[in-house]
Amino acid sequence: MRPREVKIVEVGPRDGLQNEAAVTLEDRIALVNALSATGLKQIEAGSFVSPKWVPQMAGSDTLFERIERRPGVTYSALTPNLRGFEAAEAAGAQEVAVFGAASEAFSQKNINCSVAESLARFEPVMVAAEEADIRVRGYVSCVLGCPYEGAVAPAKVAEVAHALYAMGCHEISLGDTIGIGTPDKAVAMLEAVAARVPMNALALHFHDTYGQALANVAACLELGVSTIDSAVAGLGGCPYAAGASGNLATEDLVYLLNGLGIRHGVELDALVLAGNQISQRLGRPNGSKVAQALTGR
Ligand code: HMG
Ligand code: MG
Repeated sequence: MRPREVKIVEVGPRDGLQNEAAVTLEDRIALVNALSATGLKQIEAGSFVSPKWVPQMAGSDTLFERIERRPGVTYSALTPNLRGFEAAEAAGAQEVAVFGAASEAFSQKNINCSVAESLARFEPVMVAAEEADIRVRGYVSCVLGCPYEGAVAPAKVAEVAHALYAMGCHEISLGDTIGIGTPDKAVAMLEAVAARVPMNALALHFHDTYGQALANVAACLELGVSTIDSAVAGLGGCPYAAGASGNLATEDLVYLLNGLGIRHGVELDALVLAGNQISQRLGRPNGSKVAQALTGR
């Protein structure tokens, strides 16, 4: 059944900017601060990964130090291993995320290890996070297809999602990393995962490469999923998924939820402002259709 309320997880400052060559630390901080003023309750602000692998996310410790934190907003970060977790904790991240995949080839390219090895690497993160009382989110990439392996079986997605949930991740975010899914496939995948992990612990993280993200979210909302990831201005892309374009635009998601009468607590005008600001800094039009319609950019 369609939820009455949706939690939006804003991933623009992390997923959106991790692939941008020209982005500066000041731009990243300004974006997080602008997003903090929109009513969003959760902002993925940075990554504690190897700066050799993803140079754009270097300096996330300074970012966490300098952002103006709003009460009631959770600022989270990606942490691939214990070292990343310790850095995120020291920087004051209030939640962290480990990230695995439903595809062996993608796991190798993205985090340089097999799916099984990645789960083993996450174990010490789970132990340290529990001690520090920090919640851990678990991502599964390639849930609707892999740039290297092609089709991915929903059963494999469900298996990895369940493994992350069983090790203590409070929320599992299902990533259509290359935005290749269509509504029937998205629904079938979500049904398969929801048979093994409670629906209220699942989130959707759909990239919009083929323009299907909003349609896929709309279809999956009917199953009762109530946490959706998105990026302001449709920023985004994964450095290890060539051609992967941005995430579903938060402005477009908010407009859809408004139309469906689903509560979310985010101010569309403030969001459009934040999206226009970062798009201007990146020297490109705002990637959200709704933002374009509202401001003519
Ligand atoms: P590795 O080479 O297998 O591991 O990398 P390593 O332990 O041998 O370390 C290699 C180097 O990184 C060493 O430095 C370590 O010190 C350093 P060197 O000796 O060469 O100078 N290192 C670190 N530095 C800073 N912070 C750390 C850290 N760990 C090691 N935490 C590793 C393994 C996971 C570190 C590497 O593969 C990596 O950083 N990958 C990052 C991948 C990434 O960030 N991808 C993008 C995010 S995922 C995504 O976008 C998908 C998602 O949005 C969902 C979806 O859309 O599907 C979440
Ligand atoms: Mg992503």
